[in-house]
Amino acid sequence: MKPIPIVLDCDPGHDDALAMILAAHNPGINLLAITTVSGNGNISKVTQNALRVCALAKIKVPVAQGAGSALLGHTEAATDIHGESALDGATLPDPIFALEEMSGVDLIAKTVREHVEKVTLVATGPLTNIALFLKFYPELKSRINEIVFMGGSIDRGNRTPYAEFNIWMDPEAADVVIKSGLPLTMCGLNVSHQALVTKDIFAQLEKMQAPLADTVIGLLRFFASTYNEVFEMPDPPLHDPITVALLIDRSVVRTRRANVEIELNGKYTRGATVVDIYNRNGSPTNVDVAIQLDFDRFWSLILNAVEAAAKA
Ligand code: RIB
Ligand code: CA
Repeated sequence: MKPIPIVLDCDPGHDDALAMILAAHNPGINLLAITTVSGNGNISKVTQNALRVCALAKIKVPVAQGAGSALLGHTEAATDIHGESALDGATLPDPIFALEEMSGVDLIAKTVREHVEKVTLVATGPLTNIALFLKFYPELKSRINEIVFMGGSIDRGNRTPYAEFNIWMDPEAADVVIKSGLPLTMCGLNVSHQALVTKDIFAQLEKMQAPLADTVIGLLRFFASTYNEVFEMPDPPLHDPITVALLIDRSVVRTRRANVEIELNGKYTRGATVVDIYNRNGSPTNVDVAIQLDFDRFWSLILNAVEAAAKA
């Protein structure tokens, strides 16, 4: 099977970092570029983190800095989960290459315009850059094969009782994406909370006896400590790499087609993904919503990618 060409838009972020490693070190993916978006940390922090993860995992693709705030200007940082640096828990190497001069949105456009095949956009942070790309470059929409995003949930949220963090950060951007008419696959908390970093996963990482694996362990142990403190979850959910894993092997998740809308105005529910899973409103379906994760298949892909990166 030909590798799937993607641009990864992210806010590293512990789980974003593992999504980067999987995208760069699985032969089923052709990682064309990485763009960053303000989310887990401010834009300079998450961008520096992206460059450092590239240095750590020998990822050599263009990286460009994207939006520093949501479409309506909102910014915040998930320091309670990802720490002050937005990627606490291990010492990462200094960047080994410079950022692209152009903006993240322009790098997405350049990559999509120049690539011979249609490109899949993978988003693991707020959807600001994706929305800006769709608005500023409508002529390139036909060059997009699919958008796969980590965000939202069939049920409750994690940033507010009803809103998941990525969608909460920029609901207007999410609304642009949801209304784009492009093929969409949503990986929400309902499926990402199945992607737990269990003690056995840590043991398999420890067995690798490799410096890169040890760094990943340090990062994930930090992530585990904050998730346990904030959400009383002893094993943290590794949300973001599901978006990449399902492109490598669609059987990693079971999806269900549904109508999804973004709540923009609710006093208590702004940023919620309203997933009509039983089609009670009879609205047209617009999103493939991931429901069930194949845990073993998912983790086999992740661990193989960490091993491959360690040997690169
Ligand atoms: O709610 C989880 C999402 O928010 C993940 O993408 C995590 O990295 C944060 O961005
Ligand atoms: Ca993320």
